[in-house]
Amino acid sequence: MRHLLNPLDFSVEEIDDLLALARDIEQNLPGYAHVCDGKKLATLFYEPSTRTRLSFEAAMLNLGGSVLGFSSANSSSAAKGESVADTIRMISCYADICAMRHPKEGAAFVAAQKAQIPVINAGDGGHQHPTQTLTDLMTIRSMKGRLDNLTVGFCGDLKFGRTVHSLINAMVRYPNVKFILISPPELRIPDNIRDDVLTANNVPFEEVGNLDDALGQLDILYMTRVQKERFFNEEDYIRLKDCYILDKKKMKLAKEDMYVLHPLPRVNEISVEVDDDPRAAYFKQAQYGVYVRMALIMRLLEVQKPC
Ligand code: CP
Repeated sequence: MRHLLNPLDFSVEEIDDLLALARDIEQNLPGYAHVCDGKKLATLFYEPSTRTRLSFEAAMLNLGGSVLGFSSANSSSAAKGESVADTIRMISCYADICAMRHPKEGAAFVAAQKAQIPVINAGDGGHQHPTQTLTDLMTIRSMKGRLDNLTVGFCGDLKFGRTVHSLINAMVRYPNVKFILISPPELRIPDNIRDDVLTANNVPFEEVGNLDDALGQLDILYMTRVQKERFFNEEDYIRLKDCYILDKKKMKLAKEDMYVLHPLPRVNEISVEVDDDPRAAYFKQAQYGVYVRMALIMRLLEVQKPC
């Protein structure tokens, strides 16, 4: 039995296979309508979500399966003090696979130790968000036709942004990828990503504070929200929340084939006027999330592709 807790749980070859399956699903969606008949997905969301939870549920429904679960800790027995370890033992009796989001780093790992079913990490605190990474990889490959030979800019909250941590972890495995890390000093990438992932793998990267100066070099710009829920101090959040705003004027500094990704939700960091720019890929990215999660559910349940 396999879980997906960290983007590195799958090899580059397995990710290539998964993205190929997701692409086939995108092109032949009705053909997959019954491959998970009779199977159940549990969505255990201890933190708010729109895209991840609903795209997981849409994915399982598209495959012919059913879904059950909860969308907040308060509507589960976690509110009465039940542990993740006990909850997952129960869920193993009710479902065939589960996706879990939790504010504590490592919660999905704890669940996987006790689970009798595959566990998918749907985001654990500021740590990892591997299914967002699969979505991001599918988007980059679709837009640029490759996952190598790219200069990728990450902009905004690089300290708490788990989608950033996961995508960097995944992309250092592809040749000739360079990163430009754009953030205020307070929201710089954590030391463990800088030292243990980037430096340890000899991956070229720069840490800068100015988005305008970096824009012209980028093939991909990955914008992120400053995450209010991870700040201890409201004053710091207010001071930093609008530190980068991508607008039409800034987009003029970017290459004609630079694509803008964002895991969403956005607050102010991408002006709505950018949505009509053909380089704005973030809504397409959210749509790809359904196809990669369908592919992932099939792989973890060992369901075969329809003939
Ligand atoms: N990208 C993402 O994780 O969005 P949600 O928080 O809405 O699930």
